[in-house]
Amino acid sequence: MCEECGAHQHHQEHDHEHDQDQEHGHGHGCASHQGTGGPRPTVMAICGKGGVGKTSVSAMVTKILLAERPDAKVLVIDADPAVGLATALGVDVVHTVDEIRNDVIRSSRTGEAGDVAAILEELDYRVYEAMAEREHFAFLAIGRPETEGCYCKVNDYLKEVIEELVASFDYVVIDGEAGIEQVNRRVLETVTHLLLVSDCSLKGINVIRTIRDVADGGVMHYEHVGVLLNRVVDPADAHLVDLGDIDQVGCVIEDSPIRKLDIAGRSLLELPDTDPSVVAVAQALKRFGVLV
Ligand SMILES: Nc1ncnc2c1ncn2[C@@H]1O[C@H](COP(=O)(O)OP(=O)(O)OP(=O)(O)O)[C@@H](O)[C@H]1O
Ligand SMILES: [Mg+2]
Repeated sequence: MCEECGAHQHHQEHDHEHDQDQEHGHGHGCASHQGTGGPRPTVMAICGKGGVGKTSVSAMVTKILLAERPDAKVLVIDADPAVGLATALGVDVVHTVDEIRNDVIRSSRTGEAGDVAAILEELDYRVYEAMAEREHFAFLAIGRPETEGCYCKVNDYLKEVIEELVASFDYVVIDGEAGIEQVNRRVLETVTHLLLVSDCSLKGINVIRTIRDVADGGVMHYEHVGVLLNRVVDPADAHLVDLGDIDQVGCVIEDSPIRKLDIAGRSLLELPDTDPSVVAVAQALKRFGVLV
């Protein structure tokens, strides 16, 4: 429900036909646009307090999926306005979803109704165009938060486009902001796995408890929730942390290769498969049921 206009944000007034492959001819060779028609994708949102390692974990999850599921279609969504995940994966972001949103809003403000209709019709095409294609994965940056004001209809259109896009992949990794409301408003309302990342601090744990409570309040639908402790200096600390009823799926140590790649602005995809953090995240994905 939008606080400003009272509209339900579930594709209201949405009469848009999603037929983009035929209509717009996305024929630029990306198998990920074809849609598998198979089982639902595994969609993981990675959330937690600022600086706990969401982006690093998202990059490592991507690396592991590419290694363990070489034939799978993997989409990585950077929902953080700072688009740090692009750097962590060595992707150059050219366009973001918010640029598309802002175009529509600008046209509606200047009263160019014809333009708005034309842009809305092209939204799905433009979202596909904004997606960066790498050899083994696709990357979509959401960008800055939307302009102030109520743009439910535009948000709904965009979310529906993203939802459809997501359905054509096997795995979707979302680097979320600390607040899960932003993921809900700007990306998706339903994920299969909610991975809450925290360091061992009480502040970090309180944030993930709050995120889980907010999600359970109806903000995010998920099937599985788990905590990944990150930047753990002494593994004994992990036993001191009280996660309540949330399962701890893994524990990643404070790792100097991550730090060094980050300092150099290099991709975390360069981490060796044997790096202890990569191994720990892979184990966590198994425990979380993402990998078998
Ligand atoms: N396991 C780790 N070992 C060592 N350094 C780490 C580890 N995880 C993350 N870092 C470092 O911690 C810092 C914050 O990590 P990261 O950017 O992934 O966090 P974040 O939660 O995405 O932050 P933000 O909330 O600002 O987006 C970075 O400098 C990163 O290199
Ligand atoms: Mg980040």
